[in-house]
Amino acid sequence: MINVGPRARVLAIFLIALSLGLVATRLVTRDARLEPLPAGYGRPNTKAQPAIKTAPTRETKNKQWESAARRVPCVGPRGLALDAQENDDNVLERVIDIPYPRPFVGSHESMGLGQTWMTAAERYGPYGWGDNKESYGRKKVTWNLTDWAALQNQCLERNFQRFKDITPIRPTERRFRMRKQGEEVRLPVIQPQAAEHAPRTAIVFRAFEGYNYTTEDMVNLRATIAETALRYGGEYTAFILVDVKDKNRNIFASEENYQRAVKELVPSEFQGMAVLFDETLLQSWYPNIKTHITTYQVMQPLQLFGYFYPEFDHYWQLELDLRFTGHAGRYLAAMSDFAREQPRKQSMERSTWFYMPKFHGNYSDLLGAVNATLEGTGGLGWDMKIQDFEPIGPRPPVDDPRDDNFEWGVGEEADFIAVGPCAHVQYMVDWAWRNWYQGLKAGKGTPRWMCQPAMGRASRTLLLAAHHAQAVQGLAVHSEVTLPSFALWHGLKLVAPPHPAYQDPQWPLDKMNELYNGPGDVGAHRKPGMVGMARGEAIYRITPYAYITTSSSFWYSSPFPDKIYDAWLSRGPQAGNDTAELPYVLWKSQDGKVYAPNMMLHPVKTNQNLVDLPAGPGPLFLVSIGGAVISVLVVAVAGFRWWKQRRPGRYAPLRMDDVDAMS
Ligand SMILES: *[C@@H]1O[C@H](CO)[C@@H](O)[C@H](O)[C@H]1NC(C)=O
Ligand SMILES: *[C@@H]1O[C@H](CO)[C@@H](O)[C@H](O)[C@H]1NC(C)=O
Ligand SMILES: *[C@@H]1O[C@H](CO)[C@@H](O)[C@H](O)[C@H]1NC(C)=O
Ligand SMILES: *[C@@H]1O[C@H](CO)[C@@H](O)[C@H](O)[C@H]1NC(C)=O
Repeated sequence: MINVGPRARVLAIFLIALSLGLVATRLVTRDARLEPLPAGYGRPNTKAQPAIKTAPTRETKNKQWESAARRVPCVGPRGLALDAQENDDNVLERVIDIPYPRPFVGSHESMGLGQTWMTAAERYGPYGWGDNKESYGRKKVTWNLTDWAALQNQCLERNFQRFKDITPIRPTERRFRMRKQGEEVRLPVIQPQAAEHAPRTAIVFRAFEGYNYTTEDMVNLRATIAETALRYGGEYTAFILVDVKDKNRNIFASEENYQRAVKELVPSEFQGMAVLFDETLLQSWYPNIKTHITTYQVMQPLQLFGYFYPEFDHYWQLELDLRFTGHAGRYLAAMSDFAREQPRKQSMERSTWFYMPKFHGNYSDLLGAVNATLEGTGGLGWDMKIQDFEPIGPRPPVDDPRDDNFEWGVGEEADFIAVGPCAHVQYMVDWAWRNWYQGLKAGKGTPRWMCQPAMGRASRTLLLAAHHAQAVQGLAVHSEVTLPSFALWHGLKLVAPPHPAYQDPQWPLDKMNELYNGPGDVGAHRKPGMVGMARGEAIYRITPYAYITTSSSFWYSSPFPDKIYDAWLSRGPQAGNDTAELPYVLWKSQDGKVYAPNMMLHPVKTNQNLVDLPAGPGPLFLVSIGGAVISVLVVAVAGFRWWKQRRPGRYAPLRMDDVDAMS
């Protein structure tokens, strides 16, 4: 019989307990893991040669500013008209007589998005993709001599009657400047929308020093500029907002320094639309905010952009790893059209849902179900007020929300358009930054919301409200929390349109509804503080469900967008492999052309090693998980060594000559 001491016994018990714990955890998590659907599930069974037709051109209806002058078509980089014509500058979508892949969340129909298809050559050909090949078939463009700022200005000028303020892009003008000593910052005054003028929207691409512009980045930028700014008669103006990491460039010390940085950091064709900032600018305007780094305060530069570029009514912030596989302008217009038609009442509650038509019916059925759960009350956004300031948004038109039959806000532009469903931060369990805020009187007790990722469209009113709070009150919340929370706190209109996303691997839809939205139907969602809101574990307790959320075509850490993009553009490890299986959302014609459905993909990484914008669980969270694992390992190893060390103690100590013999 082995003779063990009391310390060894305690250790043995500890180790047994630890291994039991590990086994139990494994069992529990394995049980919780869902079985994915078979690979390729949902791939449409198609006839060999379905009809492929050019999709009819859809125009947004312009109901709200119908008395504004009509859009005048503009021209693309080859000087050709961007209208319904087929020409080398114009991108045309296709409709194919095959079943359309079904998104797991969101809906093309509800969003008014075309169920269209495009090959990569059709999608990006007008913008130079494939122009190094014999088969290009379009007139070539000398891209480094193209001036996208000039093209945009020309378009704006042709449409000058449509806008209240027609300030063009002035490429050499440096508008950002440091805050002056004692310079006051005031709250914005809301001006009603004028029917005779179309609103102007800035598209702000977020770039940073060190970003490598690959061919795909370039064609993506050209496509988005052409299909918004040029295609929509000057309604959009695109900019590149560049984070200059090297403060020694001193871009605000002299015009020369600034222009040198523009030349060095931005590809020549986009230099005219570049706007540069560095951390010193953010510090100067927001001295009382404890950090200005992107992860925590990605909205600060956009807030300043809103402040210094007042000719715009709205500002889309888009990341460089976003891709539209269909027409970018029509996608963005569908987002704002959807948002405009939404009533204000209960909009926050609806915006938390991962809308799945199979379970929720059409979107107005979801509205009805949420309303029933809320028993006709106004929801969170109705007359909300926090302790820190007076809301600047319009007061409800009626005292009792029950007297508003979902009419308030219909036809009004949204102040914030989120690109993903929103969540109630106070109820999130393991989101790394759920308690990151400063200057809130009620502290943790202040209701806060977040919508991931940190993209979206903000009104000037909303940006200036956040700007004021940060510059004057020293009040801040985390990146993804900023715009939704300020929108709610000020009684501004917030909408998360249910745009379509796909999954790979795919999982049973009923499980997805439960994991993203929570158990039970909409009527079962009565948790105090969250009545009528979705509250799925995949969002409120993200860690165990990362294997699900990271399978979406629109999720910050998902590899699926790259898989789609690789196969569609025939790049990456499987490029040119005709037998490689395509992601189920793509369709290959008999002549070998690969078509992609109309989607917004995020992220498509061309700069694999560069991470600049915030993502979900951040470094802190990963470090703490890593730390926990390491400390358990350290304890185990230390215990084991101690146990090993004391074993020789049961034998006679080595004699001196044994030691000599060993050395
Ligand atoms: C533009 O690119 C061509 C090659 O594609 C190069 O020869 C030329 O020098 C470039 N021009 C400028 C102004 O950069
Ligand atoms: C950018 O590209 C250059 C040249 O290909 C390469 O040397 C550099 O490492 C790249 N930078 C990053 C951050 O990937
Ligand atoms: C919203 O709920 C109230 C109270 O239950 C009800 O009277 C009203 O008809 C509902 N409206 C809609 C559009 O569902
Ligand atoms: C092509 O793809 C198939 C299926 O994924 C794979 O089995 C095959 O090894 C690939 N061929 C090459 C040359 O990579």
